[in-house]
Amino acid sequence: MNPIKHVAIIMDGNGRWGIKNKKSRNFGHREGLFTVEKIIKQTVKKKIKYLTLYAFSTENWKRPKKEINFLFYLLEEFFNKKIHDLHNKGVKIKIIGNKKAFSKRIFDILLNSENLTKKNKILQLNLALNYGSKFELINAMNLIVKKKIPITESNLIKNLYTNGTPDPDLLIRTGNTNRLSNFLLWQTAYSEIFFVKKLWPDFTVNDYNKILLKFKKTKRNFGNI
Ligand code: IPE
Ligand code: IPE
Ligand code: MG
Repeated sequence: MNPIKHVAIIMDGNGRWGIKNKKSRNFGHREGLFTVEKIIKQTVKKKIKYLTLYAFSTENWKRPKKEINFLFYLLEEFFNKKIHDLHNKGVKIKIIGNKKAFSKRIFDILLNSENLTKKNKILQLNLALNYGSKFELINAMNLIVKKKIPITESNLIKNLYTNGTPDPDLLIRTGNTNRLSNFLLWQTAYSEIFFVKKLWPDFTVNDYNKILLKFKKTKRNFGNI
């Protein structure tokens, strides 16, 4: 059975869920947070050490302002309401993505959450916010040039946002779409990928458990036979 250190998830389908349930896209985003909570809890229960959630991409700025504002409002609300509970559970929060684009208020909330939880050891929750894999790679290369160090695999890895996090063993994407949408392109080179038809708010702990079990039974070759 394969051990699981790191699960990465593209939480897709909130907007469609809202519309399908005769409400708004934003209603779907709110509903999606219940799934986030359940999945974090289950990841802790399964003793998995790293969970990376794709919450907002560098391309999501193309969306209507009203939706973007609501997403950041939800983010703020989530941190204000849940950070102490997460902290008590031993969750360490790490934001991956370009924080420079955020308002001072959001920036401070994120930074405070990271600082509060930095010594926690139960689960590292990487939240991908204003994250784009292409930007991350270019940024890493620029850092390498600045530091005047050679371009090696290990130097590149050290200069990614995900520095310190092992590559995802498995990547899950909900929402019935089979693409990576600029998420962890380098880090998923050998991840097992699971595309799920269900929209994110409909994704259950049972669905999650089934994927984890399937992963555990997969033969991973890494180029070998
Ligand atoms: C994913 O759900 C969450 C974010 C991008 C913030 P979507 O908002 O992409 O939902 P769909 O894919 O439009 O249904
Ligand atoms: C990917 O979903 C980003 C997040 C889940 C945060 P999108 O809905 O933005 O992806 P595309 O645009 O359909 O590829
Ligand atoms: Mg989508």
